[in-house]
Amino acid sequence: MESAGTSFNDRRWSLKGKTALVTGGTRGIGYAIVAELAGLGASVHTCSRNEKELNERVEEWRGKGFQVRGSVCDLTCNTQKEELIKTVSSVFDGKLNILVNNAATVVLKGVLDHRPEDCSYVLKANLESPYHLCQLAHPLLKASGDGNIVFLSSIAGVVALPALSIYSASKGAINQLTKNLACEWAKDNIRINTVAPGPVKTTITKPVLV
Ligand SMILES: NC(=O)c1ccc[n+]([C@@H]2O[C@H](COP(=O)([O-])OP(=O)(O)OC[C@H]3O[C@@H](n4cnc5c(N)ncnc54)[C@H](OP(=O)(O)O)[C@@H]3O)[C@@H](O)[C@H]2O)c1
Repeated sequence: MESAGTSFNDRRWSLKGKTALVTGGTRGIGYAIVAELAGLGASVHTCSRNEKELNERVEEWRGKGFQVRGSVCDLTCNTQKEELIKTVSSVFDGKLNILVNNAATVVLKGVLDHRPEDCSYVLKANLESPYHLCQLAHPLLKASGDGNIVFLSSIAGVVALPALSIYSASKGAINQLTKNLACEWAKDNIRINTVAPGPVKTTITKPVLV
């Protein structure tokens, strides 16, 4: 299979000149998304909470000739999200073509074992945070004239899987949010889509594949 960044790069799938923000790009699916977008020529900004890991990944991508930058950001913290968008705006000159809401968390427990704080944290990380990030990024996406948002949902947001009740609910909500944003922001030329993967072996799936 041809890899992005080689033969695709200079042909019809080029993203040269496009800008992207990918949340949670240091590991798993987000890491692959950053590499794919950057390999196709996009200028990518990513974020995570672990500064050491983030710096290592950015150095690795830059070593491959990719245009990637990173910010330490806990997406569950509103002020840190605001700071992230300020940085992205300044780096990309007020315009963002692609926002990938990838970062999320899992709590793996039966319904009766979920504590209130488990529920609040999962809903904050998986629903409120991407929702707020979309709000903050809206002016930049609109200014690009060609904005795109991609959410990472899950098959767990469509079918019932064991021990994933609140995670599944957060992903089901993302599926619905995709439709609302798509209708509200079509007038601003912002396209909204959701990808709902099946199991992928990453750090989020250490306890079980979701
Ligand atoms: N893997 C699967 O089987 C699977 C299946 C369906 C859907 N998905 C979805 O795909 C997406 C990616 O999953 P994954 O398996 O690649 O996850 P992962 O391996 O756990 O990676 C998550 C990434 O997000 C970052 N992150 C997590 N919480 C964050 C926060 N509060 N603020 C900033 N960054 C944060 C992590 O870095 P730090 O921890 O350092 O912050 C890491 O870079 C998620 O939305 C997940 O629900 C995954």
